[in-house]
Order: sequence, then structure tokens, then C-alpha cells
Amino acid sequence: MENLYRADQKIAVVTGAATGIGKAIATRLAHMGALVVIADLNLEAAQETVGALPCEKPEFQKHEAVYIDVTDEASVKAVYDGIGKRFGRIDIAVNNAGVSTMNHLENLTERDWDFNMDVNAKGVFLCTKHEVPWMKEKGGAMVNTSSMAYLYSAPLLAHYTASKFAVAGWSQTAAKELSKYGIRVNYVCPGYVLTDMQNREVVWEGSLRSMTGEEVRADYVQQTPLGRLCRPEDVANAVGFLVSPQAEFITGAAIPVTGGAEL
Ligand SMILES: NC(=O)c1ccc[n+]([C@@H]2O[C@H](COP(=O)([O-])OP(=O)(O)OC[C@H]3O[C@@H](n4cnc5c(N)ncnc54)[C@H](O)[C@@H]3O)[C@@H](O)[C@H]2O)c1
Repeated sequence: MENLYRADQKIAVVTGAATGIGKAIATRLAHMGALVVIADLNLEAAQETVGALPCEKPEFQKHEAVYIDVTDEASVKAVYDGIGKRFGRIDIAVNNAGVSTMNHLENLTERDWDFNMDVNAKGVFLCTKHEVPWMKEKGGAMVNTSSMAYLYSAPLLAHYTASKFAVAGWSQTAAKELSKYGIRVNYVCPGYVLTDMQNREVVWEGSLRSMTGEEVRADYVQQTPLGRLCRPEDVANAVGFLVSPQAEFITGAAIPVTGGAEL
């Protein structure tokens, strides 16, 4: 395939970017002039999202969508090696794909634990591992998506919380180990973000707390000092900052994007 990207253009890969927070991050990075690769389990939605990404000139339109299963090392390696071989490097890596399920901890199943740990924690490990070979020569910026659950205990989400603590621990250590290559690693901790994940969670939480989904959402707003739910774009703005030169001396940091809900 012919490459029409500009030599000065940043090559960015965002996982879980077909929808929700990842989609907003991909859009933000495209607005910043990056060539964005959306890597997602849902290839059809990823292709639709790529088609809507902004680009400065039509002849530079080379944003791409690829299938990835972040829990499968063969899939992860094939994606990053494919991108690395075509473009020669990866400048920005956002490891954002994630899932959740919800239950009282005594009712959680082994499957709940494995599913959350596999996608949220193992997925970040595998993606980092296969991004580094393509980032280490020129340096770059990595951002992992943790959660407010890392900052503030989240009842009904004990297993998910554990997986997001894993993301934080992984990111802190990666920040130290990868600093020698000029790779900065930070992680964002979003609060109550209006996405499909939240749409699913308010139904589950509503049934576990004998409330309607809308009452659960109202409770989230009530818990948020800034008085509204988080928008995917709020998280994307933080990521845009973290990968920019303005953040060149920031690494290993947890950035809450919560409207103060963890306070
Ligand atoms: N929505 C929130 O309130 C909230 C709060 C804190 C953190 N987060 C985190 O933000 C990230 C994005 O969540 P969202 O709310 O946009 O969710 P979402 O469900 O809207 O989007 C998640 C995306 O990840 C993809 N995905 C799922 N499993 C995958 C896999 N194995 N391989 C590749 N892609 C996979 C899905 O296809 C989907 O496009 C997740 O890591 C989530 O844990 C969300």
C-alpha cells in the first residue's frame, strides 16, 4: 500500500477507539495532525470511525482501522509489527481498550475476573511490549487508560478496580524502564464517562441497587463536584496534552479526569 503520510506527521495508534473514549482520543490526535491507526475488536465500527476522522488535506487521508484482540499476543504483535514496518516507527501509543462487568464481590465469577484482567491488564502489558520495539529508537509518548477506580474505591467493581490498579502499577514501572529510550508513559483516570460502557453499567448497577438507570446516572452527577458527567472529549483533551511537547517533563503520572468525583 502506498504511503502518503507526511514525514513530519506523528504516527499514533489507539486501541479500543472504535467507540467511546478511544474514539474521542483518535479524533483529538487527528485534529493535532497525527496519522491515526484505530485498533479495535470491532473492525466494522472502527472503519466507520476512521472515515469520520478529520485530516488537513484529502491526499493525506491515511488514517486506518485494524482488527486487534488485545488479549491475544499473536494479534497484538501482528498489528504493531505491521504498523511499524510500514511507517518505520510509532510516536504515540494509547492503550485504551477496556471492558467491565459488575456484581457484589461475593457473586463475582472466575470468568468476570479473567475477562476484566485479560482485556484491561494483560491487554496493556501486551500492547506496551509490542509497541516498544517501534518507539525505542526515536522516543515517544504512551498513555494508558486506568480509571477513577484506581483513585477511589468502586463498589460492585472490585475485579475491575484490581485490573485498573494493575494498569497504574504497570504504567509507573514502564515510565521508569522506558525513560532511557525517551518514551514517556502516563495514565489517565476517567470518572463517570458517558459512553456505551456507562450505558451498560447503569443498567447493571440499577438492578443491583434497586434503582433505575437514570437514577444511577443522577447519583453519579451528584457525586461530581463539577456537576456533570464526564464527556469522552474531556479525557481526549487530557491525552492530547500528555502526548504534546507541553508535557515533555511529565512521566509516570496519573491524571484524574473526574470533575472531582474521587474527592
Ligand atoms: N466509561 C467510563 O465511565 C470509564 C471510566 C473510567 C475508565 N474507563 C476506561 O476507558 C476505556 C474506554 O472505555 P469506554 O467507556 O470508551 O468503553 P466502550 O465500551 O465504549 O469502548 C471500549 C472499546 O474497546 C473495544 N474492545 C473491547 N475489548 C477489546 C479487545 N479485547 N481488543 C480490542 N478492543 C477491545 C471495544 O470494541 C470498544 O470499541 C476502558 O479502558 C475503560 O475501562 C471508562
